[in-house]
Amino acid sequence: MPNITALATTTEEIVLNQYRTDHTISPSHCLTMQTIEAARLEPGQVRVRNDFIQITAVMADLMTEHPGLPMPPYALGTPLWGGAVGTVTESAADLPVGSVVTHMSGWREETVAAAETFWPVPIEVLPGAEYVLNQGVTAYHGIVDIAQVREGDVVFVSGAAGGAGSLAGQIAKALGAKTVIGSAGSDAKVAYLVDELGFDAAINYRTESIASRLQALASEGIDVFFDTVGGDQFEAAVQAAAPGARFALCGALAGQIDGGDAGSPRLDIMTAIVKQIEIRPFTTFHTPHQIQAWNQHYGLWLSEGKIVFPHTIVNGGLEAAPAVLDGLLLGKFRGNVIVRLDRE
Ligand SMILES: NC(=O)c1ccc[n+]([C@@H]2O[C@H](COP(=O)([O-])OP(=O)(O)OC[C@H]3O[C@@H](n4cnc5c(N)ncnc54)[C@H](OP(=O)(O)O)[C@@H]3O)[C@@H](O)[C@H]2O)c1
Repeated sequence: MPNITALATTTEEIVLNQYRTDHTISPSHCLTMQTIEAARLEPGQVRVRNDFIQITAVMADLMTEHPGLPMPPYALGTPLWGGAVGTVTESAADLPVGSVVTHMSGWREETVAAAETFWPVPIEVLPGAEYVLNQGVTAYHGIVDIAQVREGDVVFVSGAAGGAGSLAGQIAKALGAKTVIGSAGSDAKVAYLVDELGFDAAINYRTESIASRLQALASEGIDVFFDTVGGDQFEAAVQAAAPGARFALCGALAGQIDGGDAGSPRLDIMTAIVKQIEIRPFTTFHTPHQIQAWNQHYGLWLSEGKIVFPHTIVNGGLEAAPAVLDGLLLGKFRGNVIVRLDRE
């Protein structure tokens, strides 16, 4: 039986108190936790007590006034949105109390909304409900549809210990890539990629030269680059590319986190032309087709042991979430980052 707590009259949420005007300002500086009156249920609505919320790097960008991203920015004075998993504690709809659901209104203790804005979590096929809080749709779309990884490919993934990168590398391997190489920011993460996620090799971009390591690890060149970092890692990948290499550009973490031009590479056009590199930046819109394509493989690959869900769960409740986002940007965590909310 699910452990349903008594309905409270107040509830907590985290709101944006000021825009993030500079990358040196920590996200937590711009966030406040506030207590509000719990909403009453309207017909057709349910109340969901959140158990886990997802924290991702892009949330820091959404705190700026004009992020210029293909998703709604955070608005001053309102709670942040983001992936969450929770349990229905009260229902005025055809979704029973006790149902475990996922939704996009995270950063709050509870969410009250129309029942159709929640999706049931397939807990029968997943080791835990929090397993739905992953960046697999993006990783799968980038590796399968954009880079079109095939058997025998040599694949390089930058930001490989992060939420998207850690799944992208494993997906490439599951599809038959011959060699998967990742980059990450510490020796511990390098070991994690190789020992626990099945990467063939990994490079510590803080202490090693990406260009010379790629030359040593992939003497015939890389066929695919899944890039979440940009900047000098992209430049190194161009030099290391095999003829006809496919580049799926997912993110520019170096610029998002370090600011300035750090994420903006200088493109060696002649090399790109001579090698005929296909450079494809992409945005994942989480279409029903993309979600279904990932979900069909996710449960199966987990059960077959072909992939693991790389994630870090941080305890500490909703109040811990802002500092967790700060820590994420500093490279403190690995995989997909999830905060467990307290239950009384
Ligand atoms: N195209 C799309 O549709 C789409 C969808 C989702 C996400 N994205 C983008 O994909 C990227 C990855 O997202 P994510 O949520 O998976 O992020 P993430 O990898 O969890 O981001 C945090 C990681 O960034 C790394 N990092 C910090 N500073 C860095 C630097 N200067 N250079 C390189 N790495 C640095 C850190 O790892 P280390 O310790 O290894 O440095 C840190 O753990 C982001 O740019 C995001 O905006 C794009």
